[in-house]
This record gives sequence, C-alpha cells and structure tokens, in this order.
Amino acid sequence: MPRKLFVTTALPYANGTLHIGHMMEYIQADIWVRFQRMQGHEVHFVCADDAHGAPIMIAADKAGKTPQQFVADIAAGRKPYLDGFHISFDNWHSTDAPENHLLAQDIYRDLKKAGLIDSRSIEQFFDPQKNMFLPDRFIKGQCPKCGAKDQYGDNCEVCGAVYNPTELISPYSALSGVTPVLRSSEHYFFRLSDPRCVEFLEAWTRQAGHLQVEVYNKIKEWLEPDETGKRQLGDWDISRDAPYFGIEIPDAPGKYFYVWLDAPIGYLASLLNHFTRRSAGDATEGARRFAAFMEDPDSEQFHFIGKDIITFHTLFWPAMLHFSGRKTPNAVFVHGFLTVNSEKMSKSRGTGLDPLKYLSLGMNAEWLRYYIAAKLNPRNEDIEFNPEDFMARVNSDLVGKYINIASRAAGFISKRFGGKLGAVADDGAALLQLLRAGATDIASHYESRDFARALREAMLLADRVNEYVDQNKPWELAKQQGMDERLHQVCSTCIESFRLLSIYLKPVLPVLAARVEEFLQSGPLVFDDAARTLGAGHAIGEYRHLMQRVELKQLETLFEAPPAPVEQVAPPGGEDIAGTIAIDDFAKIDLRIAKIVDCQAVEGSTKLLRLTLDVGEAATRTVFSGIASAYKPEDLIGQLTVVVANLAPRKMKFGLSEGMVLAASHADEKANPGIFVLHPSAGAKPGMRVR
Ligand code: MSP
Ligand code: ZN
Repeated sequence: MPRKLFVTTALPYANGTLHIGHMMEYIQADIWVRFQRMQGHEVHFVCADDAHGAPIMIAADKAGKTPQQFVADIAAGRKPYLDGFHISFDNWHSTDAPENHLLAQDIYRDLKKAGLIDSRSIEQFFDPQKNMFLPDRFIKGQCPKCGAKDQYGDNCEVCGAVYNPTELISPYSALSGVTPVLRSSEHYFFRLSDPRCVEFLEAWTRQAGHLQVEVYNKIKEWLEPDETGKRQLGDWDISRDAPYFGIEIPDAPGKYFYVWLDAPIGYLASLLNHFTRRSAGDATEGARRFAAFMEDPDSEQFHFIGKDIITFHTLFWPAMLHFSGRKTPNAVFVHGFLTVNSEKMSKSRGTGLDPLKYLSLGMNAEWLRYYIAAKLNPRNEDIEFNPEDFMARVNSDLVGKYINIASRAAGFISKRFGGKLGAVADDGAALLQLLRAGATDIASHYESRDFARALREAMLLADRVNEYVDQNKPWELAKQQGMDERLHQVCSTCIESFRLLSIYLKPVLPVLAARVEEFLQSGPLVFDDAARTLGAGHAIGEYRHLMQRVELKQLETLFEAPPAPVEQVAPPGGEDIAGTIAIDDFAKIDLRIAKIVDCQAVEGSTKLLRLTLDVGEAATRTVFSGIASAYKPEDLIGQLTVVVANLAPRKMKFGLSEGMVLAASHADEKANPGIFVLHPSAGAKPGMRVR
C-alpha cells in the first residue's frame, strides 16, 4: 500500500536570501522525500515564505516598499537556490496568500469555540514617535543583570540573561531612539495552560514516533510543574496591535495574529494551494482534495525543522491543530545547526558559504548534497562544513570509490563487447548477492533519516567492488590472450554492481542517477529493483564521464572574502574643483584678516548672523554671514577670521553687507552638515592681506 505523505520544511522568513543553513534543511528533507517517492509512495512536499511580522514590516518600510512588494521581491529570488540544489518541492507558497488568511481565521474560530481563547489587557512598551507597540527585538537598553549596554529586549548577548523588556535599564526604541512608554492594550491568548491542553500535550509529546528522544526530553520541561506547581507552558499571546503586517483577527478590529500563529498554518495553506494547482487551478476541487487528504486517517504529516523552533512545532502547533479539530503531525523531525569552518551562522546573514556563489563557481550541487548527507544522522546534533573534509569525502569516496567503478569497466564493454553485458561468474554473483543484501538496511537508514549510515554502508559495499576490480585487474585481462570471456564477466559484474550502488545513492544524487539510468538504459532505478540484474545481453549506452573531482582552487575561491566594494570616487567636498584661473585672477581678490569685534543674531532670520569686523581700517564693517546654524554669536566674538575685503557691498533685507567671511562646507550640506569659519594662526593682525 503506497503511503500518503505530506512533508514540509520550515518556512523561511521573507526578509533575506537563503543561506547554507536553510539549504541543509532542504537537502535533508529532499533526500527523505526522494527516498519515499522511490518506494512508490505519494508525497506532497511543500514550503512557503514566512511573510508576516514586525521585522519584515520594518524592513519593507526601510526599503521604501509595501510589505507585499517586499516579500514578493524576496520570493522571486528563491528559485535559483531550490533548482540549483535540486530541491524537489511540489509547491512554494506564501503565508500572506488568501488560503492562509482563511485557514488561520478558521482555526482561530475553532479554538475560540473550544473555549481556548482568552483576552486581557497587558502593559507593553510603545514607541510614541513611531506610534506602535515595540516587539522585544526592537527595544534596547542596558542588561538588568550585567549592565551591558545596547542589549535586546528579550535577552543579553553578553551574559546570556533572559528577561522582559520592561526590566531593561534605560530602555530605548531601536526604531526611533526615543524612550518607550508603557501602554496597555487588549491581547488575545491561546489558553495553553488549560488542563485539556496540558493533558493532550503530555500524551502527544510522549507518544513514540512523534519526537526524537532528545527533543522530548527538552520539551517535557515545559510541561512538568516545578516545586511550586507552576508550569513553564503558560498561555500564549497570539495577538499584535496595528500597525502590523499580518492576518486580521476576526471580530477584533485593529488586532492581528502574531506571526508565529499563522506561520505553521502556512504549511496547510501551501498544501491547499498545491492541490488547487494540481486541479488545474480549480479552487473548489483543490479544497475538496485538500479536505479529503487532511481527513484521511491514512495520510501522514511530517515537519522538518531546526532546533531553534522546537516549542512552536511540538507544543503550540499540535495543540492548535488538535483543539481546532484537525489532524496532528505524525512526527516533527528536528535537526541541529550547520556551522561553516566552526563559525556560528547568523540567522539573517548566513556565513562564509554562499550557496549561489558555490554554484556560480561551477561547483556541483550534488557534491554538497552528498557531503551533507554523509554528516546527517537522525539526532538533533550540529554538523560542521569543513573544506578539507568536504574535498576528501567527495574526491575519495564519491568519485574515487563509486564513480570509478563505472569508468573502469564501461570502456571495455563498449569497445570489446559491442556495448552488451555478459554473464557474471560465480565470484561475481557472490559479490552482487552481498550488494543486494544491503538494500533493506540502507532503505531503513533512509527511512529513519540516518543518511550518514546509509552512505557509510553504500561506501563499504563500493569498497568490496573495488577490491574485486583490483583482484581481477580488467586492464591486464584486456591485454591477455584468451581472457575475453573473463574480461566480459568482470566488467559486467562491475556494471551490475554500479547499478546497485546507484540505487542506494539516488535519493542523494538525483541528477547523477538520471544520467546513470540513461547510461545503463535501465529505466528509473528504485529500491525494489535491487533484486534484479540487468542481465546478459543487456545493451548499455555510451559512458560519458559522470562526475568531476573538487579542486582546491574552487574551495579557496568559495571562501575568499568578496572583493571590497570599489571606493566611490566622489569629488572632494562634494563638488569638482573649479576651472583653472591665472595668478592675476586670484590677485583681484583682496583677502584680509578681520577681528570679529561683535556678533549678533539677526531677528527674523534663522540663517544669518550680523558680524562687526575690525579690518584694520578707521571704521568697522558690517558683514552678514549664513552661519547661524553652526555658531552661537558669543562663540565668535573676539575671534580672528578672513574676509573678502573688496567685494562690492550688497544690500540685504536686514542691512548692507560690506564683505564676506570665509567658511568651509560640503556641497551637500544636508548629507554632510557643518559650516566651519576660517581662523588664521595665532599672531595674525587685523588688516593683514592673505595671499
Ligand atoms: N520563519 C521561521 C519558521 C516558521 S515555520 C512555520 C524561521 N525562519 S528561518 O528562516 O529563521 O529559519 C528557517 C529554518 O532554517 C529553521 O528550521 C531553522 O532552524 C533553519 N536554520 C537556520 N539556520 C540554520 C543553520 N545554521 N543550520 C541549519 N538550519 C538552520 O525560523
Ligand atoms: Zn547581561
């Protein structure tokens, strides 16, 4: 009986490109999905962009886009990552799609009917300038435990303390810099502390198969009461106040679902959309198929996620589904984090290994799939990308052990035996039997997501084939008289072995497997075929080299820092140097040292100051200067400066200006504010000429 599987990966936030950590999750799930499809099961593998929430709203605002446009632009960039690494999603949707709005509101209404929604007023920090309640991440201040400055509202990156934003010392809004004020507002809560929820979650999390042991051990701490009888699992605040990019809460004007409420519902929305697309866009038929699938007791639901989002998926999500009368997941599969060269990856920026750069260097996506698979086990453990290890695994194992088997045998079959396989002798049959016997084990390792073990066993079998090749030395048999039949047997054994290994590696190496199928003229390889052989007389296709080795240079380039952005050659001070003049032109300008004997603000002008200058003449001069933004009158009194003494007097609104004081400024004063009056070195006297 084919299984009916609904498989998801976590929905990435739509505020950045995908990084290597995301790719690892997709590769893990994709291998599992491809394995299930090879077993003849029906799989619906979906994902979506996680579009909502305050950070995305704020990022969109900064980019000068609507949040809808902002997430659409991010979504448009997903394809090269997914296609590039052969991730076989059946659908990619968005949590802002209409399906998700409707589903989220339905689920909420059902939870409300079940008596599990509460509302009460809570106090929260509000940014009076931006006119919005501030999410924890947008409140900063001093850590209440260690005093470190500029820490986020939820935890301290210096000492690791976890606290409420209201505990911060001198809090400020990261959006506007102003001090936030406490304001109360009505919030909606999912009553997870209700005994029904606690009882359900205790049973659901404990049930074998739902969670990995280490995940269960972690999560049960939320459910166990402490000495005072209090549980860590409290009611969950599921509402946010406008302005918020999200889904409106029914019958609650100005209230939106917190992003983590509608995000996992996005799994269902993407599945629904997938069924609609499969029904040639007929939404009614899509909805019917979706409902049929979700109500089918035999359909199975699996979520692949990383270790940072366990509570959402193993407590909140199953409870949402169960108490809204829906089917709960069959399992949540948690993986650890990928680090690159031992560096911790930032959630938003990723790190060293840029997936698109990897591809642009001509590096084979299946090398990475193979390497990651070789490191992945079913436990929630971190794994590390190490370049030397990568090169060794790909070059020595994948190419050296596996690909080599075909390349050593194929030439002889086509040149000496008309491209047809021969019989295998007893020793060959024994070898094939050994390889065939691995099928069940390897399949069970894929099923349990122990890809490291599946590949280890496949490579051990490849070792046996290579031993056989080294014992029989086809390249020597080829030179010996009367050894044709033996050569044919040995090479046919190699090709049959290669076919079996290709079955075992196909979930990891789908593109390579397709080329092998063409080369072997075998039809699609599936695990069940391990029992068969191609057989004597089977004609294989022409062998073309199947896979290059990794070159050191590629890895070096991959990890090279991107070239520093080219220094922008802006003109000095924001403007080009003026056209050349002759010394005589300069001599026409009479510059003199002047002493500012008085300085006054000009009533009616915010720009001008009125300066009284001693230029060594019998009488002082009056000069108006546009420097009021930079100087207070009293700062200038008594200072020496330079004045253009032979400038034609100019009649201004406030009086006659008899010269011009020299000051420096940038051409773009808005972007580079500041005006700087020139002062001569000490000793200069009023009236001295500047030349
Ligand atoms: N939007 C939420 C998930 C909502 S699911 C209903 C989110 N997005 S995320 O973009 O931050 O992360 C998406 C997935 O990538 C998560 O499963 C996360 O654990 C995983 N990873 C992020 N960094 C990772 C590594 N360095 N290594 C492996 N996976 C990592 O969380
Ligand atoms: Zn601290």
